[in-house]
Parts: sequence; C-alpha cells; structure tokens
Amino acid sequence: MLKLKPRLNMAAQMVRRGSRLADIGTDHAYLPASLILDGAIPCAIAADLRKGPLENAQATVESYGIAEKVNLRLSDGLKCIDPSEVDDIVIAGMGGILISEILEAAPWVKDKNIQLILQPQSHDEVLRKWLWDNGFEITKENACFEDGKTYICMASVYTAEKSKHSEAEILLGGFAERIDDACVSFCEKKLRRVKVRLDALRKSDPDNEEIVTLEKILNEVK
Ligand SMILES: C[S@@+](CC[C@H](N)C(=O)[O-])C[C@H]1O[C@@H](n2cnc3c(N)ncnc32)[C@H](O)[C@@H]1O
Repeated sequence: MLKLKPRLNMAAQMVRRGSRLADIGTDHAYLPASLILDGAIPCAIAADLRKGPLENAQATVESYGIAEKVNLRLSDGLKCIDPSEVDDIVIAGMGGILISEILEAAPWVKDKNIQLILQPQSHDEVLRKWLWDNGFEITKENACFEDGKTYICMASVYTAEKSKHSEAEILLGGFAERIDDACVSFCEKKLRRVKVRLDALRKSDPDNEEIVTLEKILNEVK
C-alpha cells in the first residue's frame, strides 16, 4: 500500500478502475504506484520532462516491486504518448497555463473515450476556459485541504460542444454552489483576490475596463 496525501488522492479517486493511465509530470510516480498497488489499474505510463523526476519514479516503483507495471518515459507533455496507449490522463501539480499548453499541443486528446484528470496549482480559470472553448465538458470538480492549503482537481471529457460561460463560472467553476469547507475556502480565496485587484484598480487606474468585469463577477456571486 502507498497512502497518498489528500491532493494526489483526490486526483487518484477520479481515475477510472481498470483504465490505462498516463501520469504526465509524474515526479515520484506516487499516484500511478498507489493505484497499481490498490489493484485499481493494471499498469501505467509515468512520464516526466526531466531525468531527475524519472529517477525518483524509478526508485518508487522498484521499492514497491511494481517496476514491470510502470513504463517510465521521458516526455515533454504528451509528445511521447501514443493515443492508442491511454484511457485516462492525469496532469497534476502544474500551473493551469502549462496544463492548457500541454493539452493544446496534443489535439488527439479530443477523443470522447479519453478522460482528463487535471490538478492545477494556479490559474485554474485559464484551464477551465481552455477546456470549454475547445469542446470539453468538466464532469467533476473537487477540492481538498493539504498542509493548510486548498487544492482543486477536475475531470474532463471531450464532447465537441464548445460552451460559453460567465466570468464568475470561469473563475469558480462548479465550486460556487458547493458548501463543503474546502470548496468554500477555494471560492473565498479566489474572491479575495478579485476584491484586492478591484480595490487596487479603482485607486490606480479607475478607467480600466477590467473593473467592470471584476464588478460583474462579484455581483454574480452575490
Ligand atoms: C510539482 S511536480 C508534480 C508532481 C506530481 N504530478 C504531483 O502532483 O505531485 C511537477 C512535475 O512536472 C514536470 N513537468 C514540468 N513540465 C513538464 C512537461 N512539459 N512535460 C512533462 N512533465 C513536466 C516536472 O519535471 C515535475 O516533475
């Protein structure tokens, strides 16, 4: 058994049982190793851009005796992954902008059979907008606490239907309607940033058009 901390566990819970998984930016490969040890998936590709993290991954899979079930791969994003190899793709622990760029560079993820599990550390609004603009549906969103910080994770599948959303929906996703502590904490953190930015703009640049957008977000959330 390899017990994951809450952030990675939240992502792992979204992986479909039995699926062929690619974990992009795997570092220690804790997530695929844990799912294999639990019997949730038979094998996985654990990919990273750099050699050092892949050495960490190798140490993990060897120490748990599952080296033959984890294919370690040097890959910039999804470049060295073949579409026929995967059902679920996890990209966790990176910024939302980088995650969007990785997806943009791999148009083959626009496949209704592939599930994306994305855990952005920042700029989750950029990622949500990219997904909606590119015909993906966000099927699940969750939040958790780890070491006093709030983290979120989302699952997404391609539907080919581009959808339009308000600025507040892009900023908060489905969290605005949720009442559990981690979701509320996530929304409060994002709205605090909006208020700080709005106050600063009102003082320094009162004609800035962004003020209207920020006010709209706050009004909608009210
Ligand atoms: C903060 S770690 C996250 C590790 C693990 N996924 C997690 O969530 O705990 C980010 C990892 O992503 C890798 N990375 C950054 N850019 C990447 C890219 N374009 N393609 C693949 N891996 C990348 C880094 O080398 C690093 O190992």
